[in-house]
Formats: sequence, structure tokens, C-alpha cells
Amino acid sequence: MTPSSRLSGFYKRTLQERRQTIGDWATLTPEELQVLEGGSGLSAEQADHMVENAIGTYALPLGIATNFTINGTDRLIPMVVEEPSVVAAVSNAARLFREGGGFTTSSDEPIMIGQIQVLDLTDLEAAKQVILDNKALLMAEADKVGGSIVKHGGGARDIEVRTFESTSIGKMLVIHLLYDTRDAMGANAINTAVEHLAPHVESLTGGRVNLRILSNLSDQRKAKASGMIPAAQLATETISGAEAVDAIVEAGVFAEVDPYRATTHNKGIMNGIDAVIIATGNDWRAIEAGAHAYAARNGQYSSMSRWWKDEDGNLRGSLELPMALGTVGGATRVHPAAGIALKILGTKSARELAEISLAVGLAQNLAAIKALATDGIQRGHMRMHARQLAVAAGASHEMVNSVVQAMLKEGNIRLERAKAIVAELDAKH
Ligand code: MEV
Repeated sequence: MTPSSRLSGFYKRTLQERRQTIGDWATLTPEELQVLEGGSGLSAEQADHMVENAIGTYALPLGIATNFTINGTDRLIPMVVEEPSVVAAVSNAARLFREGGGFTTSSDEPIMIGQIQVLDLTDLEAAKQVILDNKALLMAEADKVGGSIVKHGGGARDIEVRTFESTSIGKMLVIHLLYDTRDAMGANAINTAVEHLAPHVESLTGGRVNLRILSNLSDQRKAKASGMIPAAQLATETISGAEAVDAIVEAGVFAEVDPYRATTHNKGIMNGIDAVIIATGNDWRAIEAGAHAYAARNGQYSSMSRWWKDEDGNLRGSLELPMALGTVGGATRVHPAAGIALKILGTKSARELAEISLAVGLAQNLAAIKALATDGIQRGHMRMHARQLAVAAGASHEMVNSVVQAMLKEGNIRLERAKAIVAELDAKH
């Protein structure tokens, strides 16, 4: 039986205790635990192997979101994020989904798209046909340079052709290589394959190939998460569960119809998704680009998620996005903390990681729109803001809580006041 991710009061434990709990959960070695203590987990020497002109590293907080149950398995979620409240809010939302049986997730096969741009053609339809007639040959060529991905059962799956009859630079043919990258994000494999295919495409079509590059709109590689929250769980001091369900559905529809709201709503979703992606050493710009493009697939930028009330009056939500993630290759293997994050998640599968990320995105979205549609978000934010001010005012670790409580009680949350309280407390000791 997997242990429970419902770690009640986890936030009240000391850093050391939390690390120990996670160490036990993921059977981390003493060396791995030390990586978590060591600032960024990445040495300057390792950084030097990752980027050019390295001069050091830049650390961010790594937190653990609790309470997730996904397809019946409990998961603890490592999240790298600089924004206060994100980890607490998502843990809280996951607890609500837990009351409705947790998240259900699914995903496509890990199929990426590589694009080849062909120009200087007179007859696009004839060029398209010759490519389709030679699909098998081109796919076999792509697999020749597939290396370990092909050995692991991945490789070319299909070829599609799109035509642009009239662009400002004339006729354009775009070839899509659909390629299964298994547990890799696959950018290198795809780019290698399309570069290798380019001369074959030129000799088949008589055209000139310009770009050969993957598409970050990886809409063949989507993941999906959905879940239910019993209405009663959403009741607050001021509104009933039924009213909260309606208000949250209204918030969801606002984002469906209005791009100005959709942008902020989706930013909230990506707060959760990016944090998991960064923790696992994946390329969050690729995920961001693909997710926002997918949100505009019907011609207008819209909400990434859907929220509705079911026939029992409970709240249901779902989220579907392209999710090109890897658990092998790239920074996932170079960054020591990324390997630890995967160990904490308890997965080696890119598809599973994609599905978990979507569950986190859905929970993060719920946390935000629930707060916005009920209490407003400033109440929770002010507590975290007070914390940051207390630290900035020089409060010692032991003193922070007292400074925060005093400022919240007074309703006076300013740096000057924090400094004055710190001085008062210092004088008493
Ligand atoms: C803040 O980082 C994210 C929110 O603005 C998201 C939203 O408005 O739904 C709270």
C-alpha cells in the first residue's frame, strides 16, 4: 500500500522534519538529502556543463504539495516556485479534490511534431502527393538516425503535409513528421530527424527546404486531468457550498469568453504546472508556448480549463493541454535536484509526469478561482506578504511568526511596522 500524501500539519513542521519525511517517502539517500540542503542542488561546475559563460547558479525554493491522489495513487508533488501561496493553495485544493475521489488523468502516446518548410515549388498538390507516396521511405530514413529512442520502441509514426497556397513569400509546403519520443522530451531526436530528411524532401519535391525544427504546439501529445469536489466542501463562513459551486462555474465561464480574463486564469494554471516542470528539469518555455497556443486553437484565446456543475450539484473541472515532458535526457539527468524530484513523484514515465502536471494545474486553477469567487485572494496573500516583510525586517527564524501575527492583528502590514516589531522583540530578549 502506498503511504498517504495527506500530511496534515506538514507546513507546521521544521525544515529538517519536512526533509526527513520526504526522505522517508522517497527513500532518498543521505547524499540526496544533502543536495536539498545545499542551496540550488547544482554546483557551479555542473552549471558550467549546462550553459555557456556560466558564472554560478541561481537558487529557487523547492516546496512539496501534499494531499494529491491521482488515479488512486497518492503523490507528493515537488514544486519550484518563487511566488508565495502557490504551494499552500494547491495542497488545499488537492485536499478538496481528494474528498471527491481524487484526480483522474490520461494522456496520448508521446508523439512530437517535427516541421520541414519547403519553398520554390510550382505545384503544391503534386509535391504533397509525392511526399505522401514516399511516406514509408521517409519514415524509415528518420528512424535511421533515431538512436536510443528507436531502440526503446520510439521513432517515426506518420507523415502529414500541409499546404499554404498564397503567402507573402509565395507557395509553401509544410511537412510534419510525427515521431514517438518515448520518455524523452525529444527535441534533439526530432530536430536530428527533420534535418536528416531535408535533402530527401528536396530531391523528391524539387523544392528548397528552409526550416527544419520541432513544433512546440505538441497537440498530438496531450495530457488530461479531471476531478470532482463535493459542493459541501466548498462552503465558507459566508456562502453555502451550492453558492460557491455556482460562483466558481461563473468564474470559469468568464475565462472561456474573455481573453483578458483567460490570460490571468491560465497564468494561475501555469503557476502549478511550471513549478513541477522546473522541479523536474524540463523546458518550461516549451510547455508555456504549447499551452497558450493550444488555448487559442479555436481562433480566440480562451480558458485552458472547463468548470461545470454536475447533476448532483457538485463541482467538476477538467484540463487538457499539450505536455511535451521528459524523464530522460537534458537537464532532467544533469540537475541533481531534478532526479530527486522524480524520485519524490515516484515516476520514471514521461506520460505519468505529464498527467501529474495536469492534475497540479487543475488544482492550482481551482485554488485561485475558488478564492477569487469567494473571499478574494488578498486575505491569504497578506499573510504571506507579512511573512516576507518580517524576514526583510530582519526577524530571526523563531521571531517570524510573532511578527506576522502582530502585523495581521493590527491590520498594519508595512516594512516600517515590521522593523519596529522586530526591534521591540529584540529589546525583550
Ligand atoms: C496569481 O499568480 C494567479 C491568479 O491571478 C490566477 C487567477 O486570477 O485565476 C490568482
